[in-house]
Amino acid sequence: MPESMHDDYAATPSPGDHTSIAQGPAPSARLRTRMDVLIVDHPLAARLLTRLRDETTDRATFRLAMDELAGMLVYEACRTLPTAPVDIRTPMAPTTGVRIASPPLVVPVLRAGLGLHGAVIRLLPETETAFIGVARNEETLQPEPYMNSVPADLAGRPVLVLDPMLATGGSLEHACRLLRHRGAGPMTGVCVLAAPEGLRRVEQSGLVERVVTAAVDDHLDERAFIVPGLGDAGDRLFGTA
Ligand code: PRP
Repeated sequence: MPESMHDDYAATPSPGDHTSIAQGPAPSARLRTRMDVLIVDHPLAARLLTRLRDETTDRATFRLAMDELAGMLVYEACRTLPTAPVDIRTPMAPTTGVRIASPPLVVPVLRAGLGLHGAVIRLLPETETAFIGVARNEETLQPEPYMNSVPADLAGRPVLVLDPMLATGGSLEHACRLLRHRGAGPMTGVCVLAAPEGLRRVEQSGLVERVVTAAVDDHLDERAFIVPGLGDAGDRLFGTA
């Protein structure tokens, strides 16, 4: 880790080592930062992440593991969603249930964000989806936008932004800046892996309220790939065509 980096975004501790975690009981760990970073620290999530990291995992298995892990990430990302009461009857008696008061807009960052999308819309079937296409230029490492279908006025709607890899943070920052210009309310980034460098950049942008991730990895390599990471998520999901 570079010397200049403060240790708020240190890599996920080893299992059983919670010394760098300021607060937050199991199953999830919360890092001590201005932006809320929630690490879904759970054996079932860790097992799926292991499958994703393993270079021998084939494409079909990789997609399935990401889909299953996405369900766990979005489950935690939605923990604070406001609900409204709904009067219903069970076969036994009247009772009160809940509905999601204001379902978030879901925004997968193409391509790799699509790997998280199926699970999100299964859990939040009433939500709407908008798409942002960004490709990171492999030379400059800058995000290069190529499409967006975000409505012109989001009127303060909460947004879940899906991108499995938070590396330099440029892609997530670009997506969130566009969303804020269109009037997005609180934004939550849902990632499989985050690098400390990317978390710091996104936090400094002041755009993102919360990041939910399965792990914070060690560092970025000279090509700005997350290490140990899982390789190129888009390629592993969809191939290189
Ligand atoms: C990868 C990844 C993220 C982005 C992360 O996408 O899926 O979107 O890079 O890098 P950053 O945090 O440094 O911006 P890529 O641009 O390769 O496109 P893809 O999803 O189509 O593979």
